This record gives sequence, structure tokens and C-alpha cells, in this order.
Amino acid sequence: TYIFINNKFVDETEGNVSYSDRGYNFGDGIYEYLRVYDGKLYTAKEHYERLFRSAKEIGLNLSEYTVEGLIDITKELVNKNDVQNGGVYIQVTRGVAPRNHPFPSEDTKPVFTAFSKSYDRPYDELENGVKAITVDDIRWLRCDIKSLNLLGNVLAKEKATQCDAQEAIQHRDGIVTEGSSSNVYAIKEGKIYTHPANHLILNGITRRVIHKIANDIDVPFIEEAFTVDFLKDADEVIISSTSIEVMPVIQIDDKIINDGKVGEITKKLQKLFDKSIE
Ligand code: PDD
Repeated sequence: TYIFINNKFVDETEGNVSYSDRGYNFGDGIYEYLRVYDGKLYTAKEHYERLFRSAKEIGLNLSEYTVEGLIDITKELVNKNDVQNGGVYIQVTRGVAPRNHPFPSEDTKPVFTAFSKSYDRPYDELENGVKAITVDDIRWLRCDIKSLNLLGNVLAKEKATQCDAQEAIQHRDGIVTEGSSSNVYAIKEGKIYTHPANHLILNGITRRVIHKIANDIDVPFIEEAFTVDFLKDADEVIISSTSIEVMPVIQIDDKIINDGKVGEITKKLQKLFDKSIE
């Protein structure tokens, strides 16, 4: 299996990084995760444009790279590893430098790593739905940056796992923000509600696809904050991400949603999402 590290394709056993990498020491870096369907990258441009935005927001110099260049590297990685269906993880750290909080000297090069993996779409869950729990959102206030600092997300997801649930839906003082690795939507009386894409959530690429699909079929897409109670009282609930697509949620804590069945609007969105990957 090949990985891409520091501008070379090497065998994964040779993918070593320094103990002084700022990603390792401080979580000082950013990442993306994108999907491969039938050997083709899905919404790669959007993912890499978001990577450049994350870089800009944390003052990480990505001037060595371009969106087109990164797409080419990703295609080559996917081809080399013969990935038909799967995903690609890309991360960039601020580089290797003696441990010290301020940014390192200007000549410090970012450390770029990418790997791919093969797996099928989560057909079973997409058809039957998943369970979620609710947890306090204890993260920092720049969740719009796809940063390597994922401790809040990790603790939330671990709690979900302990509770036999697939996702932890986070809230700040009762206002739903997003899942530990997904965006969250309440569907009520034919309308889709989701948290505004501000500093408190990641502006998901899948969220943007769902927004477009909703517009195409004249389902109102309302970017407004709502409470945990509103969510539990919704007709249908979905979560979305690059890996779970348009995922129905059929239970939140002890509350069963829509009698435990996948709702009609959810099914419509799923069908059109399927079309978008063809
Ligand atoms: N996570 N919110 C958070 C906190 C996320 O980590 C993700 C994605 C999303 C959905 O974004 P997108 O639709 O662009 O994948 C929302 C990825 C899959 C991950 O961490 O692996």
C-alpha cells in the first residue's frame, strides 16, 4: 500500500514523521477526508478549497500546493492503490521545529501526508438508520476550521460508542451544533432545519450537496439554530458527512424518531444523493 508523504509516494511502512512535528506536539495542522466512488474522486475541488481556507485561517503556508495539483496527487494515490470505493485522508501540519508555541521560522516546510483506504458504502445503516446520543459541545469556538485538534470530537464519539450509538450530537446550552464527525438536520413539517454555517460548525461538503438537492426539489432548507427538544420532536432526523452520506437517525437518547422508520424526505434526499455520485 502506498502513502504520499513529503512529496513522495512511498510504501506505508516507510511513512515516518518526526517526534518534533507540530501536528504531533500541538495538533497544529489541518485535514480533509474525501470519498472515492467507482474509482473517481467525489467533490474533490470543494474539499481542497476548504483545505486552503482552513490553512489561511490558521496562517499555515500552503503556497507550494494548488487545488489542481492536490487533485492530481490524490488521483495518483487512488490509482496506485487501486481504490474503487473508499476514501482519502489528507493532513498538513505546520512542520517540524523545536517545540515552542509561536509559529516556527519562515523556512519551516509544512508536512503533508495522504493515505487511502478501500471500503463499501454503509448500505445497511443508510437503509435502516442509526442511533445517536446528545452530549455537551465542549470544543473551541473555531469549529469551522478542519483542524487536527479533535479531542472534543474524540471524547464525544467515544461516549456514543460506549452507549452503543453511532453518533454523538453536540449542543451548546441546549442549542444543537453538529455531530462529532457529521452535520445534523431536523426535518419538520416538510422543512429541513440545520445550524447556520458559522464558527460553531464545520461547513460540510455533504451539507452543501444536501442544500442544493433540497433547493432542486423545493424543500425549504432553513439555516437556523434549534434546541435538543426541537430535534427530538422532529418528524425525521438526519446526519451527514463524506463517509456516512445522508444518514437517517431513528433514535436520539431514549427518544424514538418517526416510529424508528426512515422518513420520506430522507429517502428522497438519499435517492438524489445517489444520483449525484453517478
Ligand atoms: N468529518 N462536522 C464535523 C465535526 C466533521 O468532522 C465532519 C466530517 C462533518 C461533515 O463534513 P463533510 O460533509 O465535509 O465530510 C461535519 C470527516 C468525515 C472526518 O472527520 O473523517
